[in-house]
Amino acid sequence: RKQQRKKIFEMNRIAARYFHEALYAPDGKEALEYLRGRGLGDRVLKTFGMGFARDGWDYLMKLLADKGYTKQDMQAAGLIKMSDGKSYDMFRNRAMIPIINAFGDIIGFGGRVMDDGMPKYLNSPETAAFNKSRNLYNLNLIRKQKNLSHLILVEGYMDVIALFSYGIPECVATLGTALTQDQARLIKRYTNHIYISYDGDAAGQKATLRALGILAQEGIETRVVVIPGGQDPDEYLKEHGKAGYIELMKESLPEMDYRFQTAAAKYDLNDSHQKEKFAQECAKMLKQVESAVTKEKYARKLSGMTGYSPESILQDAGGLQKGVE
Ligand code: CTP
Ligand code: MN
Ligand code: MN
Ligand code: MN
Ligand code: MN
Repeated sequence: RKQQRKKIFEMNRIAARYFHEALYAPDGKEALEYLRGRGLGDRVLKTFGMGFARDGWDYLMKLLADKGYTKQDMQAAGLIKMSDGKSYDMFRNRAMIPIINAFGDIIGFGGRVMDDGMPKYLNSPETAAFNKSRNLYNLNLIRKQKNLSHLILVEGYMDVIALFSYGIPECVATLGTALTQDQARLIKRYTNHIYISYDGDAAGQKATLRALGILAQEGIETRVVVIPGGQDPDEYLKEHGKAGYIELMKESLPEMDYRFQTAAAKYDLNDSHQKEKFAQECAKMLKQVESAVTKEKYARKLSGMTGYSPESILQDAGGLQKGVE
């Protein structure tokens, strides 16, 4: 198994080099223009090892065969697909993003279409070397950063790359799946302070609420960066620059404030029945709060939002102790 992983890393490294070189070949012009059009300069393209998978069925397959790898090897690495006797390159005509683990091994790839074709991203399948739920994108660069005071958690590869190119390198992304408990544990090895900075759309909000629960289980202190207009970090940076994004980080909300704000958006607080439901929903969230002081703080806040007394809110929240459910 260890041998198999090693072989996959070798093949992936060959593939990554091939993709990167293709980006600077004459037929990689369109891909290079696509990435440059997204604001990525040569330094960033090199740092992240980005590349181009040519538009053909067997470019990579032939290259790997020349180097002595079998089709079984290539399939085990997720680099080719086989169906009823036919085999072909997994990634074709896509901008390529290698996914590198904390030890510097290339464990898989993300490939993006360069127009609005579907699917937008194609990711390597799970292999002996690639476990999506136990890895994060950008750990290789994070590991080299000294005195990491916090990490920013984003949805997409391109968000990480954009943040880096704007001088904000302390970020990681999940690999095309929702945040897992294993990933939260992994994060905790690096820092105890996380900014969740998911896309500002409905899906991002939903994923944020989910991630808050997962991070809380590891005792990680989490704030939420709320991006207006449904944009993602990449888009926001392009419009508002580094200073604009740093401003959003400064305005980020602690977990409970974000939960209150999200809940408040669901109710009409001028309607007394809806206000009651809102207060009850929020009081229930407060049950999980450890510290009596923090609990009181939020009971007061909720009181300010609804007009109910902090005392009855605290009572619904199970008193000043952490509730057992
Ligand atoms: N994703 C995926 N497959 C898709 C769409 C998305 O694996 N068909 C994953 C990718 O890891 C992507 C992340 O979900 O980076 C976030 O998706 P989305 O917000 O749609 O993509 P962006 O990162 O914003 O990509 P881009 O800016 O290139 O459009
Ligand atoms: Mn999205
Ligand atoms: Mn996005
Ligand atoms: Mn985007
Ligand atoms: Mn804007």
